[in-house]
Amino acid sequence: MKKIQVVIDRRTDEAKDIVSLALRRPDGENLPAFSPGAHIDLFLPNAMTRQYSLIGDCSETDRYEIAVSKAANSRGGSLCVHLALNEGNALEISEPRNNFPLQPGHDSFLFIAGGIGITPILSMIRHCERRGWSWRLLYLARSRAHAAFHDELCAFGADRVRFHFDDEAGCLFNFAHASFIVEPGVPIYCCGPAPVMKAVEDFASNHPDNPAFFEWFSPPVESGAGGVATGFDVKLQRSGQVLHVPEDRTILDVLEEHGYALPCSCREGMCRTCETGVIDGVPDHRDYVLSGGERAAGRTMMICVSRAKSPMLVIDV
Ligand code: FES
Repeated sequence: MKKIQVVIDRRTDEAKDIVSLALRRPDGENLPAFSPGAHIDLFLPNAMTRQYSLIGDCSETDRYEIAVSKAANSRGGSLCVHLALNEGNALEISEPRNNFPLQPGHDSFLFIAGGIGITPILSMIRHCERRGWSWRLLYLARSRAHAAFHDELCAFGADRVRFHFDDEAGCLFNFAHASFIVEPGVPIYCCGPAPVMKAVEDFASNHPDNPAFFEWFSPPVESGAGGVATGFDVKLQRSGQVLHVPEDRTILDVLEEHGYALPCSCREGMCRTCETGVIDGVPDHRDYVLSGGERAAGRTMMICVSRAKSPMLVIDV
């Protein structure tokens, strides 16, 4: 994976426990182009790698902007950003990747963001604004103080941006009972914590005319992509080596134990870094990034979480 050297040009408090960082190349050159919904990896000083969505307008590549929420249950990633990253610090990042692109063929969108899930949506809104496309946003947050970019979004007007603050409403937003209208055919793009994603999945299942797209930034609470794990074999296409993957190990674990250094990042099936070609066999997809079509095709898989439905998989390693 190609790494890019950047410097933190600006750090801004955007909301309670949310900071944004503007990153620029030290030489002032432009950064690689990106599309709305894209993210980058941050290679943090504590040796962790974390993915953060790009929030800026994709027409402006003199800098990348990200926003990071300090997770209450941080495993060290967001805490490191909040405590250790300051203006002037040098940092390494990856090139942008996009697991949550705006699909072609639409010029009207419904965005639903929960908490820090506003970040990929923000770049989509900026893209829509530049193109003159129609959009509406439902932004759910614990409180007004937790809503990053509140003032910027307010400026678009109440007809386009609807806020729901749990503390002011005294309850979570209820998709089943709230008056909430989405025009037929308008795609729904949603990013937020697992309960919001689940609620929107349920809402979308009752609106089959509205294609729905999701970006998970944490695995679903009930880990619904899982199932009973059984052992299987993987054959490595390039060497012909056959390795057994026991029920309590992943393909990635086994390959690393045998000395293979493969690209990976989240190890939770959410970032697509470990995507590996499937030559033969039937993958048991347990990730959160492949589309339905990609799953059905079975030509690629996330080896950090996905397993096999067939006794043997031949993979492109
Ligand atoms: S390492 Fe992130 S999907 Fe596998």
